[in-house]
Amino acid sequence: MFVQIENLVYQYGSASQPAINNFSLHLNQGEIIAILGESGSGKSTILRLLAGLETPKSGVIVINGQKMVDGHTFIPPEKRGIGMVFQDYALFPHMTVENNIKFGLRHMKRKQKQERLNEMLELVNLLDYKKRYPYELSGGQQQRVALARALAPAPSLLLFDEPFSNLDGSLQMKIRSELKEILKQTKSTSIFVTHDQADAAALADRTVLVEKGVVKSISKVESPNGYSLI
Ligand SMILES: Nc1ncnc2c1ncn2[C@@H]1O[C@H](COP(=O)(O)OP(=O)(O)OP(=O)(O)O)[C@@H](O)[C@H]1O
Ligand SMILES: [Mg+2]
Repeated sequence: MFVQIENLVYQYGSASQPAINNFSLHLNQGEIIAILGESGSGKSTILRLLAGLETPKSGVIVINGQKMVDGHTFIPPEKRGIGMVFQDYALFPHMTVENNIKFGLRHMKRKQKQERLNEMLELVNLLDYKKRYPYELSGGQQQRVALARALAPAPSLLLFDEPFSNLDGSLQMKIRSELKEILKQTKSTSIFVTHDQADAAALADRTVLVEKGVVKSISKVESPNGYSLI
């Protein structure tokens, strides 16, 4: 098992109830999981706990054999090897596409960094756009830059918070299938959060339904002929 999440509990300081209660989930390497749930059900909080942006009250997170969190351990976000794509992509507006992608590669040698950048630009089909700024790109292109930036340091786990919510219907479907192709090609283990059942069915191997911070059900996504869609 590649990612092990056991009994996470988290309560915001001002709240009377836990936002996340006994959340457990196991992922295999290369698996894509969709977390579905209504607004306020705790989806973003789960991602924030995994990324290390919040500290759980209790629970355990292990990724690729490395303990990230338990009663005694807390590995900080920058040391977790996790890539995150936010709903609004959170690109650095004053940096070109190239520099946005290079951001996570600061510790690499110059030549290696350039090679990785080109690999990523090719992967997301943006080789001709590397000198542009985010405001000069379409929503779909910005999404691909955010994906390239998250993938560039070869994270062991990728997290997406509502990655399609800023895209209109037809673009959403196109980007969704591109994303799936890239995730499968790079064998990325990923978790993405969505309101949208259709997103989950199209992209994920399994879906996790969350209600008020509690897992209600976990189901495998099957195609009509019984084969996984992926
Ligand atoms: N900083 C905060 N302080 C206090 N309560 C918070 C904070 N952030 C979120 N919450 C509460 O925690 C619960 C879970 O919030 P969370 O953002 O995880 O929901 P979500 O499922 O991502 O919702 P959405 O689909 O609207 O993005 C909600 O009840 C929310 O009001
Ligand atoms: Mg949210």
